[in-house]
Amino acid sequence: MKQIFAAVFVVIVIISFIVVAFTLTQVQQEEQRLKEGLEQRSILLAESLKETVQPNFINKSDQQLQNLVDKFEDKQRLAGMAIYDNKGNTIATSSSLITQVLKTKKIAEEAMDADGANGDFVELTNEKMYLLATPLHDQGSVVGALMIAQDASYIDTRLNEIWRTNLLRLFIQASLLSFAVLLLMRWIIYEPIRGLVKTLKLARMGGVEQNPKGLTSSFFFRPLVKEISSIKNSLSEARISASEEARLRLEKLDSPWTAERLKAFVKDILKDRTIFMVSNREPYIHTKNGGKISYFFPASGMATAIEPVMEACGGVWIAHGSGDADRLVVDSNNKIKVPPEEPKYTLRRIWLTEEEETGYYYGFSNEGLWPLCHIAHNRPTFRKEDWEEYKKVNQKFADAILAEIKNQDRPIVLIQDFHLALVPKMVKLQRPGAVVGVFWHIPWPNPESFSICPWKKDILDGMLGADLLGFHTQLHCNNFIETVGRELESLINFEQFTVTRNNHISFVKPFPISIAFPNGFEKSNGQNEKESLMKSLGIKTKHIGLGVDRLDYTKGILERLKAIEIFLNKYPSYQGNVTFIQIAAPSRTKVKKYRDFAVEVEKEEERINNLFKTKGWKPIVLLEKHHNHTQIQKFYRSADFCLVTSLHDGMNLVAKEYVASRYDEKGVLILSQYTGASRELKDALIVNPYNGEQTADAIKEALEMKPYEQTKRMRNMRETIKNYNIYRWSAELLKTMVNLG
Ligand code: G6P
Repeated sequence: MKQIFAAVFVVIVIISFIVVAFTLTQVQQEEQRLKEGLEQRSILLAESLKETVQPNFINKSDQQLQNLVDKFEDKQRLAGMAIYDNKGNTIATSSSLITQVLKTKKIAEEAMDADGANGDFVELTNEKMYLLATPLHDQGSVVGALMIAQDASYIDTRLNEIWRTNLLRLFIQASLLSFAVLLLMRWIIYEPIRGLVKTLKLARMGGVEQNPKGLTSSFFFRPLVKEISSIKNSLSEARISASEEARLRLEKLDSPWTAERLKAFVKDILKDRTIFMVSNREPYIHTKNGGKISYFFPASGMATAIEPVMEACGGVWIAHGSGDADRLVVDSNNKIKVPPEEPKYTLRRIWLTEEEETGYYYGFSNEGLWPLCHIAHNRPTFRKEDWEEYKKVNQKFADAILAEIKNQDRPIVLIQDFHLALVPKMVKLQRPGAVVGVFWHIPWPNPESFSICPWKKDILDGMLGADLLGFHTQLHCNNFIETVGRELESLINFEQFTVTRNNHISFVKPFPISIAFPNGFEKSNGQNEKESLMKSLGIKTKHIGLGVDRLDYTKGILERLKAIEIFLNKYPSYQGNVTFIQIAAPSRTKVKKYRDFAVEVEKEEERINNLFKTKGWKPIVLLEKHHNHTQIQKFYRSADFCLVTSLHDGMNLVAKEYVASRYDEKGVLILSQYTGASRELKDALIVNPYNGEQTADAIKEALEMKPYEQTKRMRNMRETIKNYNIYRWSAELLKTMVNLG
C-alpha cells in the first residue's frame, strides 16, 4: 500500500509541476497584454485631454484647470489627473493624488525633461495605478505637464483569477488521476499479486486451490503465472517424492528426522487417529496493544519443543488461554487455527477465572510442584486452597479433552508437564480406550524430596492413569519408579520399567526432548552481526558471553554473575575485553519469589558493573524483556560463549539452541552438570554452577580455546542434536504410545 501511495504522490507532483509552469507562462503573457493595452489607452486619453488643458494652462486659468481636473476624477478607470508647471509645482490635482505628490511629480518631471510621454505602474493608497505624464507646450517650449492616473488593479484581479482557475483545475485533475491510479494499481497489480501469493502459499503448504483460473485473468501477469504454475507443480511433485522417500525410511529410526518424515510416519502409524496435545501454556498468546491485536510465542521450553511437532502432525492442542486478547480471536468453540500466519493445527483455549489461575497455576504449580521437583534450595509452599483449585482446573482440562475426543475411536492424548498431573486418570476413567501419555518436562526429584508433598499420593495416582510416562533422563525415570514404590501400593517391573496399579499398566521411559533442528535456525546473513549487535546495545568489547533464560531462580543466574566477577578478578587482563549479555524474560511475576529474584539479579548486575566498569565498557548487560526466536538467534550467533548454569533443569533447550545456531561451528557452550542436556552434549565445558571458581576457569578456557578445538566440539554437538531432534523425539514417543493401544 505504501508503494501505491508513493506512486500517486509522484503523479501528483508531476502534474502540479506542469500546471504551475503552464500557469506562470500564461500569467506572464496575460500581464504583458493587459499592461500594453492600458498604456495605449492612457496615451490616447492623455493626448485628447491635452487639447483641452493646454489653452487653459497658457491662459493661466488655474481655476478652470482645477474644475477640469475635478470633472475627470474617478471616471471609470480614470482615477484622477494632475497638472504641473515646468518647475514641478502642482497647478491642479485630483484629491486622490494630493497625498502622493512625490511619486506623481517624479513621473511628470521625467516627461518634461524628455519632452515626451512617460508612464509607470505605481502603488497608490494600496491600489495599483498606471500614471502617464505628457508635456504641455507653449510655442514649442515645455511649460508644464499633464498627468493622468489610471486604475490598474483589474490586471492583478485578472491574473489571480487565472491562478485560481488553474489551481482548481489541478486539484480536480490530481484527485481524478489519483483515484484512477489507485483503481488501476488495485485491479492490475495488487489483486493479481494477492492471488499469486495465495496460490504460492497454498502450494507451499500442500493445499489444493479451489479456483486457479482467477489468476490468469490479468494480462500483465500471464507469463509470471505460467512460471509460478510450473514451480507449483514441481513443488507438489517434490513433496510427493519426499513423503514417499520418508515413508520408505520409516523404520530406520536412526537416520535424520525431518518434519516431512514425521508427517509421513504419523500418517502411517496413526492412520486416521487425531493427536490431542494438552498443556497449561499455549503456543500463541494474543494480546491487545492500543486497540491492535498481535500475538507472541512464549518463553517456554515445553512450547518450543511441542510446537514443531504439532505443525508437522496437525491435530488439536488444548491449553489455557492466557492472553488478554485471546477471547477476541477464537470461534464459538473457543478454537483458532494456528500458526496464525499459516494454519496447520487447531488451538482450543480453556478459560480460567482469576481465582483458578492464582490457586492452580501460581500457587500449587509454581509455588508447590516447581520448587518441589527442582532441587534449587527453595522451599515449596503447599496451601490447601491452592490444591483445591489445582484439582478443579485439572478436572476442567479433563472435561475439555473428553468433549474433544467424544467422537474419536481410539484417540491419542498427550499431556504435558506438571500443571496437569491429575488429568491422565480423570480422562482414563471416562475413556479407558483412549491412549494417554504424560511428558514431564521438569526433573523428577529423589523419593525423599518428593515425600514432603502433602498430596503426593493423589499426584502419583493421577499420573499413573497414563499408559506412558515420559521423562527426559533415565535418572528421572528411576526417581519416579522409586517414589511410586515408596508411596503407593503397586507392582513394579524393573526389567520392563512398568508400574501396575488397579490392573492398569503404565510404562515409564526416557525421551530426551530436543529442538526442531535444522528447521527454524538461520545462517547469518553474512554481515558482521556481532558488530551491529554491539552497536545496537551501545557496547564496545572484544568477546561476548551470553545467557538466555526466563527470570527463574532455578536457572542459576546469580551464580553465573558471581562467576563473571570471579573471572574478572582472577584474570584481570580480560577486564575491558569481555561483556556478558544476559537475556532474561520476565516470568511468573505474580509470585513473590520471582519478583524478589528479579530485584536480586538487578542488584547483582549493578554491583558487579560498579566494581569493574570503565568509560565505554561494562562487564554485564542485563536485557530484562521478552525476545523472540529470530532476535535471540542473532545473540547466539554473536556469542563467543554461552553460559547455561541451571541449578537443576529437566533438559534445557537453550543449550541445544545455541549449538543449533552455530552454522560456523564456532563458539563454546559452558553447561551445568545438573541439566538433562549435559547427558547428551558431552563436548560442552561441563561445570558445577555452585562452584564459581570452576565456572570462571571454564570462561577463560572458552575464550582461549583454539578454533579447531571449538569446531571439533561444536560439530560433535550439532551432530548429536541433528540425530536426535524433536521430530525423532515425537516419533519415538508416538510409536511407543501406538504400540500400547
Ligand atoms: C518450563 C515448564 C513449561 C513452562 C515453562 C515456562 O519450561 O516445563 O511447562 O511452560 O517453564 O513457564 P510458564 O509458567 O511461563 O509457562
